[in-house]
Amino acid sequence: MLYIVFLGAPGAGKGTQAATVAGKLNLAHVATGDMFREAQKQETELAKQARAYMEKGELVPDGITIQMVLERIAAPDCEKGVIFDGFPRNLKQAEALDEALGKQGKMIGSVIYIKVSEAELLERLGGRWICRQCQTPYHMVNSPPQTPGKCDRCGGELYQRSDDTPETVRERLRVYFAETAPLIDYYARTGKLLEAGGEGSVEDVRERILASLEKGFVR
Ligand code: AP5
Repeated sequence: MLYIVFLGAPGAGKGTQAATVAGKLNLAHVATGDMFREAQKQETELAKQARAYMEKGELVPDGITIQMVLERIAAPDCEKGVIFDGFPRNLKQAEALDEALGKQGKMIGSVIYIKVSEAELLERLGGRWICRQCQTPYHMVNSPPQTPGKCDRCGGELYQRSDDTPETVRERLRVYFAETAPLIDYYARTGKLLEAGGEGSVEDVRERILASLEKGFVR
């Protein structure tokens, strides 16, 4: 059973890569941002609590996020293992995940840190469109859909996320460097951190990630 964390700044390509790598390795893809956006569609209590934080580019409080993830990974499809995308996002979340897995005799096997320059992150987020139905990300220049405005995978409508505006992106990057980037050292100390350059084509980045995982798996 494998538990892998994809770590990286907003726009680094975590979602793009996690979806296909999870498919290749037959793991569940647990993406906290996608889960919060799905909840918004249903107008659940979780959605109401998360919305204000997401719109400002701030982290949703740990209590809400950790509970949501722990419930999610108890689902049957996570028994085969998980790729975490966008979680953990700070030290408290990382420790909560280690503790929860540890209680079941499990642990994080590898952490893939996808490294991308700040200029490239801004360019990617400015051109991103995502599918309202299945959340597949596209980029109007780098990876456009075959039919404008429609998802190649499910035919769903494409839209621009409300937190991809320049001001909110600036705040998300600030939060990333203040709260999430320290996890690079946290996981480096455990010997599980694997770095993959996140620039170049989507396919090249995927090959780098798969090659790093091949070398670095801790089961
Ligand atoms: P979340 O949805 O997790 O956003 P994020 O971490 O900011 O990451 P992104 O989804 O923006 O980027 P990504 O790395 O997945 O890149 P993508 O593959 O889309 O979180 C949103 C909000 O939810 C947070 O701000 C917070 O409020 C809340 N939240 C979520 N998790 C939380 C947690 N754990 N705790 C508390 N709050 C939480 O790619 C980006 C673009 O680049 C796309 O257009 C894509 O097509 C393009 N692209 C990808 N790869 C390449 C490539 N190689 N070359 C060129 N273009 C590329």
